[in-house]
Amino acid sequence: MTFWKKKSDKTEPVAPAPQQDTPNPERNNMNELVLQSIHEGVVFVGPEGNVHLANPVASELLGRNYDEIIGLNYESVFVLLDKTGAHVDTAHNPIAKALQQPEFSETRDLDLVTKGSEKRTPISLTIAPTTATDGRHSLVITFRDIEKELAEEHERNEFISTASHEMRTPVASIEGYLGLALNPATATIDERARDYLTKAHESSQHLGRLFQDLLDTTKLDDGQIAPKMEAVEIVSLVKNIADAQTPNIAAKGLGYQFGNDSGEQSMSGGRRLDQLIYASVDPDFMREIMNNIIENAIKYTPAGWITINIRADQYNVQISVSDTGIGIAREELKHIFQKFYRVDNRDTREIGGTGLGLYLVKQRIEAMNGRIWAESELGKGSRFTVMLPRISQKEFEQRNFLQQNLAKQGQMPQQAL
Ligand SMILES: Nc1ncnc2c1ncn2[C@@H]1O[C@H](COP(=O)(O)OP(=O)(O)OP(=O)(O)O)[C@@H](O)[C@H]1O
Ligand SMILES: [Mg+2]
Repeated sequence: MTFWKKKSDKTEPVAPAPQQDTPNPERNNMNELVLQSIHEGVVFVGPEGNVHLANPVASELLGRNYDEIIGLNYESVFVLLDKTGAHVDTAHNPIAKALQQPEFSETRDLDLVTKGSEKRTPISLTIAPTTATDGRHSLVITFRDIEKELAEEHERNEFISTASHEMRTPVASIEGYLGLALNPATATIDERARDYLTKAHESSQHLGRLFQDLLDTTKLDDGQIAPKMEAVEIVSLVKNIADAQTPNIAAKGLGYQFGNDSGEQSMSGGRRLDQLIYASVDPDFMREIMNNIIENAIKYTPAGWITINIRADQYNVQISVSDTGIGIAREELKHIFQKFYRVDNRDTREIGGTGLGLYLVKQRIEAMNGRIWAESELGKGSRFTVMLPRISQKEFEQRNFLQQNLAKQGQMPQQAL
């Protein structure tokens, strides 16, 4: 793609240098027209971090006119704040990250400060790296105001959350009474009725979980459930959670392995599993995440094994859950983390679920600054990998000391941790 400055300037290409074709004025005019009329802000940042091009919407959102922006470093053009209102430092700035490691990214978690009015606008920010023939990376940054979108989402979430909250109470009561009816100590029932009541009891449990999942989804979407981050030794935490699932794994007749399945326990330059690995996580979030992934592995594996591996390098911990189950087709794989998405085929049709599990898993992992991805082969099995930032033993000891002392005093300011 060739980018062109606006009409009043000399119409000469800025980065990246044209490689593929001879200048075509008609096409250049069209490119320019597209950029001028697009409803999103578009900024082109060169490999050195300076702005080479910006369209009118970008100028407006940034609060600077075109000539003012061009040539400036992205850091002075994009004043970004996180949701707590703190300035986003270089280590957490997605533009800085993309200049160092050219990976596509998008976020809706940042606010942009417009120069002049100093207005804070929530934005959706997308960064697409492009590589020139000399191997250097430039960035095409697109961003738009999502204030209205977020307000509408918030309203929708409020409605779902109130409705699920209200419905949870009668469902819990139905489940409770059905439980009493099925309990020989509290009721005597006809054997034929037992079968119907058992089915009704299971369905009410399912409904109760669905309402809880809906409630969690809306709260996580709205940022109402924030992780309570603690410094932990991650191998023992994950092992405890996974071991508690062994009865369910055994009940399905599956094998279970924790550790190293193929000699690949260390990422490049990594450490062995028998060493302690520390991370900063919310233990309750970790429990929900691991249970969901393991429950899926059990549910979608008719026979074979479930294997859990933990690997680490200097910066990250990777926890993977592999199974030898039905697998997921390539075209389905990119959708499975979406809200309510379920693969619909012969193998899955008989298996119950709502399609919220992996969405909640992803939300919780991202709230802890982690990532999740899935690899799979249809009919062979799947592997879900959770990546979380690692902390050093020294940081763990310092924070653990602080956590324990604050816990003794009965106070735990999360920000300090
Ligand atoms: N280990 C797995 N093997 C094969 N398919 C899987 C696996 N894990 C998830 N899937 C597919 O991804 C879909 C989404 O998973 P998700 O956990 O979000 O929903 P679910 O299991 O259907 O319902 P629930 O909300 O009760 O968890 C599943 O319906 C299933 O088709
Ligand atoms: Mg599930």
